Amino acid sequence: MNRTLLLFIVFVQLSFGVSFAQNNSAKAQQIESILSKLSIEEKAGQLNLIPITGEPTEKHLQMIRDGKVGSIIKSNGAAQNFKLQKIALEESKSGLPILFQEDVIHGYKTIAPIPLAEAASWDLEAIRKSAAVAAREAAAAGIQLTYAPMVDVCRDPRWGRIIEAAGEDPYLGSLVAAARVQGFQNSGENANQNILACVKHFAGYGASLAGRDYNIQDVSERELREVYLPPFQAAIDAGVASLMCAYTAYDGLPVTASKFLMQDVLRGEMGFKGLTMTDWQTIPNMVKIGVAENDTIATLMSMDAGIDMDMSSWKYVQLIPYLVKTGKITEKQVDDAVRQVLILKQKAGLLDDALALFNEKRQDKELLSKKNFADTKDIALKSMVLLKNKEQILPIKKTVKNIAVVGPFAKVKRDLLGWWACKGNPDDVISIYEGLEKEFGKDVNLTYAKGCEIDSFKRVGAHLIPEAVKVAQKADLVIVVLGEEYWMSGEGGGTASLHLPSYQEKLLAELAKTSKPIVSVIATGRPYILTQVADNSDAVLQAWMPGTVGGEAVAEVLSGKFNPCGKLPVTFPYHEGQVPIFHSYKKTSHTFNSGPKDNRYSTTYRDVQNAPLYPFGFGLSYTSFDYSAIELNSSEMTQEGSLKASVKITNTGKVAGREIVQLYLRDKFASVIRPMKELKDFALLDLEEGESKTVTFEITADKLSFIGRDYKTIVEAGEFTLFIGPNSSDLKETTFRLK
Ligand code: BGC
Repeated sequence: MNRTLLLFIVFVQLSFGVSFAQNNSAKAQQIESILSKLSIEEKAGQLNLIPITGEPTEKHLQMIRDGKVGSIIKSNGAAQNFKLQKIALEESKSGLPILFQEDVIHGYKTIAPIPLAEAASWDLEAIRKSAAVAAREAAAAGIQLTYAPMVDVCRDPRWGRIIEAAGEDPYLGSLVAAARVQGFQNSGENANQNILACVKHFAGYGASLAGRDYNIQDVSERELREVYLPPFQAAIDAGVASLMCAYTAYDGLPVTASKFLMQDVLRGEMGFKGLTMTDWQTIPNMVKIGVAENDTIATLMSMDAGIDMDMSSWKYVQLIPYLVKTGKITEKQVDDAVRQVLILKQKAGLLDDALALFNEKRQDKELLSKKNFADTKDIALKSMVLLKNKEQILPIKKTVKNIAVVGPFAKVKRDLLGWWACKGNPDDVISIYEGLEKEFGKDVNLTYAKGCEIDSFKRVGAHLIPEAVKVAQKADLVIVVLGEEYWMSGEGGGTASLHLPSYQEKLLAELAKTSKPIVSVIATGRPYILTQVADNSDAVLQAWMPGTVGGEAVAEVLSGKFNPCGKLPVTFPYHEGQVPIFHSYKKTSHTFNSGPKDNRYSTTYRDVQNAPLYPFGFGLSYTSFDYSAIELNSSEMTQEGSLKASVKITNTGKVAGREIVQLYLRDKFASVIRPMKELKDFALLDLEEGESKTVTFEITADKLSFIGRDYKTIVEAGEFTLFIGPNSSDLKETTFRLK
């Protein structure tokens, strides 16, 4: 390189470094200067996050004027947020802006599929884009922070909140967590199209016992570290701005008071530097749980655990001044928390020109824009999972001229949005029936029958079944849309039965007697027991709660315009009694593989099969893929080196398609018990008809590492089994040795 050019580069790098540092110190100075001017009451006000649903009352406005409101939760649109912000800026003594926050979980107005469905795409770029849509819309509506991503690993579909995260697997969950953080925080063309993310619920909430929400859980430290923490670490590494505590406890103490989790693990080991907040009233909850005698003690415990922001309990704003004055906490503790709030306000651009962020015209332009529809439809298509397709009944052939559309969910709109639908409006939703009309309307005669009622979990409306059977008898093919109502899953949506509500299974059984080809479309937020559904259907499509444009996406999959490519991010049980169920179970001394008639001394059931109905990672396509044997470039590797494993995949069918190629590893002998197999990598492969591509996975020591007996991450020499295949139970395998 020419010397002048080299000097120039060094100069640019040095001056950039200097101005970056100056910039940072100017930012820090701005915060310290604000902090130095606040009274203890105003500081406590900054830590107070309150809900304002609908029109604010005069009391709310006065609290803002009095400097008692640092943040507001609930989205009321750009105009109302502008009004409240103006009061904070111009009428409160500190003139500090409000940070507006909301549960923008899978969309603000244009609603994407529920997060569990998105994870079924395994397409991190599409997931990132979907979060970016949510961020653009929310930011335009005057929101600066979302309570997402929710990254709680969950292995029990009875827990309603399974819809909110990425399923059962810590590895997939980690990648999805990072993609969502990037989508929310970094994907806008302009900074004002991004919002701050808040990863939740730290940690172990997904293990709530027996699927009952808010229930105790008693995960061991090993399980916490192996299963529940990795997606949080991924979100932290992706730069997540804030973190929310779980409602649940860890090792006998509510997380809101756990110094071990919130300080030693989160800040110490995991390196989190952002803001921490409680979940809804988790400070006074400590009194209910019986670990604090009163709110003052609970507030002290939360401050001592280092929780920065109080969601909706008002305890910080009411009690912090008293706790400081009586010497129970130091002003430094309060300053540390306020500093975190101010940093977020600064990051959100609120310390510059705060009012510029609230603009109704921009909001109108952004919400439900064409681009937002397109990105949302892309992820909706990719999240559909084809579970059964007997004799290639799908895609629907051109010879089919009469389709009966049956089922209580064929015409619903609100339910397709799922829980946490934010400002999603059912009127904007394309129902599955409407999607089918649009896709097949001109060439095909569509008829409809509801088939049964859904009235909560009651079994009602069986009188509608005969009419549905009549409609089916006249058709060439029957599409049956089954599912659950939006409120049946999500927060507080625990269910004991995992059979579809009401008479849906009976309806399907009666329809099956017509011998017409039956395609079942399942619109649910969680895995249901689809054993009877599969028996009575020729094809089954898991469509989840697919969001605003979900109806179109379902129709385009059924017509074959889009070849389904989703794979299950969570195991679909064969029987309710198998729950909790997941693929990466640990080795036992007795086998998992024997059936009810084999040796009874096995880790299995006497009455039902051990295998799930559909394993983790499973999903069909309209084409087929052939996997070659695995080729390793070496049969051993060193800890500093790596090893390459390749397979050739060929599209052996008649249409182009996407395959999600999965890599699993098993550590044969280790100093602690290890899983039978763990997902460690995957690749998305788009293949034309007849095309072949070779996928090469690189195995490095980090993929072989695990949490040792002292809870430190270690790598041990020894033999490993390497599996590659289309899902967690259909795998080719080979072995290699780590030296
Ligand atoms: C939920 C959180 C949510 C918060 C605010 C709580 O009940 O657990 O996930 O972000 O409410 O709506």
